[in-house]
Amino acid sequence: MAFYEVYSHPVLVRYRSSVCTKATLFLVVVLCLTYIAPLLVAYRSQGFWIKRNIYEEQPVVRFQYQTLVVAATSLQGDYVAWSTFPHLNNMLGSNLRIPAVSVREEDQNQDGKLDLLTFQLQLPLKADEQVYSVQLLLTFSYQLFRMSTVVMQSLAFVQHSSPVPGAKLFISGDLRLQQRTPLPHWGLYNIYNVSVIDGSSPFASAYDLTNVMRSYQERNLTTVLSSPTPVWTVGRAAGSPFELYTEIRYPLEIIRYPFNKNNEGIESLETFYHIVTKSLHIFISDDEFDTTNNICPRRNIPLPTDTHQLMLGGPRAFPLVRREIKSLSKFRRCILDQEEDLLVKDASKDLAYVGQVLRWPQNP
Ligand SMILES: *[C@@H]1O[C@H](CO)[C@@H](O)[C@H](O)[C@H]1NC(C)=O
Ligand SMILES: *[C@@H]1O[C@H](CO)[C@@H](O)[C@H](O)[C@H]1NC(C)=O
Repeated sequence: MAFYEVYSHPVLVRYRSSVCTKATLFLVVVLCLTYIAPLLVAYRSQGFWIKRNIYEEQPVVRFQYQTLVVAATSLQGDYVAWSTFPHLNNMLGSNLRIPAVSVREEDQNQDGKLDLLTFQLQLPLKADEQVYSVQLLLTFSYQLFRMSTVVMQSLAFVQHSSPVPGAKLFISGDLRLQQRTPLPHWGLYNIYNVSVIDGSSPFASAYDLTNVMRSYQERNLTTVLSSPTPVWTVGRAAGSPFELYTEIRYPLEIIRYPFNKNNEGIESLETFYHIVTKSLHIFISDDEFDTTNNICPRRNIPLPTDTHQLMLGGPRAFPLVRREIKSLSKFRRCILDQEEDLLVKDASKDLAYVGQVLRWPQNP
């Protein structure tokens, strides 16, 4: 006759031991490893009381169309220059050259935020002029919205020089955010929403690159053009303009901000929770119970031979017991009247099973 499973339910297995035993010692060690070790690991890894946090955001960047370009045309200090500041252009006099400029800003992934600025400039030169170095300054409006609203005006500055006169300079780089201090995590942060170059000033000092860069670098929040490899091309044909080709990307930024008290608690609790779960998984597993099983004092009780005794099989119940359970499962409808803890040992396999034996009523 075929057997089928009529009913099933989990079995609670109890391991009992007195206080001064190896089992107690083992339990204490496991508890320490489970809760104290993760505490130390969580503390050592990033600290329980994190002061800083970071987030990622792609800034909203717009080129402000403010430009200043200076090109050295001899090794004796002659130069030509051009800017978008009328006062400066007036002061430049005969050094002013009006270039052909083309600017394009692109949103390459259609996410509503611009990703790339292409800035091209062709600087007309006299027949006897050569270009030995180029300084280029561009200004941007830079905004972040995710935590605090950050609104600032920033710049990108490139400088390249060569002992060999050039025909073309190619620059490709990222406009990166530089934070000296963490940004606030809420509110409006617009203390740097001021012009990098004061275009209304009639004084030459306002346009002096040394002054501009000095006051810019005093700021705690700036952008910098990271352009590892400017490409300087030599061999300009007589009468042709000097070409400047610049590509500036506005990449995703990692922004530091001070830890918000509420987040802090949650994050370190999360870390702790993860590590505890891991260590629970490592220590409180079947293997651990096997170990406990092995160091628990054993009572050797002969296998129940009385067919009226039924043992509910746990994961380690050996086949004989299991078979017996199967054969008796059809009597499951009978009420079980008594239970006790029992350790059954299979001498041949050296397997021990501690389980709950439910005694069958003699006359169901
Ligand atoms: C930033 O400055 C610009 C002009 O300089 C102004 O139009 C804008 O409202 C300012 N934004 C904030 C948030 O202060
Ligand atoms: C810039 O950061 C320094 C600390 O590094 C701070 O003392 C100073 O107040 C900050 N300046 C501004 C304008 O926030």
